[in-house]
Amino acid sequence: MQHLLTLEGMTPGQLTDLLDRAQAHADSARDPGTLAGIAVCTLFFEPSTRTRMSFQLAAQRLGAHVLNFDVSTSSARKGETALDTLRNLEAMGVRGFVVRHHDDGAVAALAREARAGTALLNAGDGRSAHPTQGLLDMLTLRQAKGADFSRLKVAIVGDVKHSRVARSDLHALRILGAGEIRVCGPASLLPDDATLAGCRVTHDLDEALEGVDAVMMLRLQRERMEEGLIGSLEGYHRDYGLSRMRLQRAASDAVVMHPGPINRGVEITDDVADGPQSLILRQVANGVAVRMAVLERLLA
Ligand code: CP
Repeated sequence: MQHLLTLEGMTPGQLTDLLDRAQAHADSARDPGTLAGIAVCTLFFEPSTRTRMSFQLAAQRLGAHVLNFDVSTSSARKGETALDTLRNLEAMGVRGFVVRHHDDGAVAALAREARAGTALLNAGDGRSAHPTQGLLDMLTLRQAKGADFSRLKVAIVGDVKHSRVARSDLHALRILGAGEIRVCGPASLLPDDATLAGCRVTHDLDEALEGVDAVMMLRLQRERMEEGLIGSLEGYHRDYGLSRMRLQRAASDAVVMHPGPINRGVEITDDVADGPQSLILRQVANGVAVRMAVLERLLA
């Protein structure tokens, strides 16, 4: 594996190996020096808190030199292309690039032009893929529910159409053999392509939640949304917001996940986001361990 662009096409063994390695990092207080002397750059053309910071922390814990490319103060502001930026940083000796971009396929396009020995890690491109989010979600689910996904019922709720997180989660859940995947949202926010193949699709949140073991809520991706796809935020919350009362339809030990950032009071109420069934901050913590595992796999 030279790059990590998507989880699609991975084997269960490849995915499980990465989760096992991430779990080992999560269990260890030691900072290994496996990337000592290697330079890694976070190249984000879109905003981020969790992904960028946890990649930086992961690379630092592995002993790498970490460069943070800030679009707003870089020569990208003078019109330099992403590819020229990559080539110039490669010329300085940077070997690992963690890239987030607003365009679908942008990270894969850069990967095709990269030198041998350079690794690109997709930190989210358009609505296509967010592979490390998919991995950290699977690690979190595995810690809570065990490694056998075959009996798990998982509901993915909200703006699936614009969500790269949903696409990577769907790939990973299928690879790991999840028993049942339900997808719920208003028709305007569900994709009408092959993304939902094999999923049980409903527009009724109560039906989607009935007896599920895990609820994966999604952020409304308003930055990627055309006008008019949803009515009011109040209406969206009424129909698709997860409240404590609604959560009672799920299994009594169901877990709640959300990739963040949360629109509190829209996708999810405070008492659920901060409540005993929420794994949201566990997901964030696992992000560091997962990103250590993938950086090591590609660069060590
Ligand atoms: N989950 C996620 O990608 O969060 P950020 O946009 O803050 O990185």
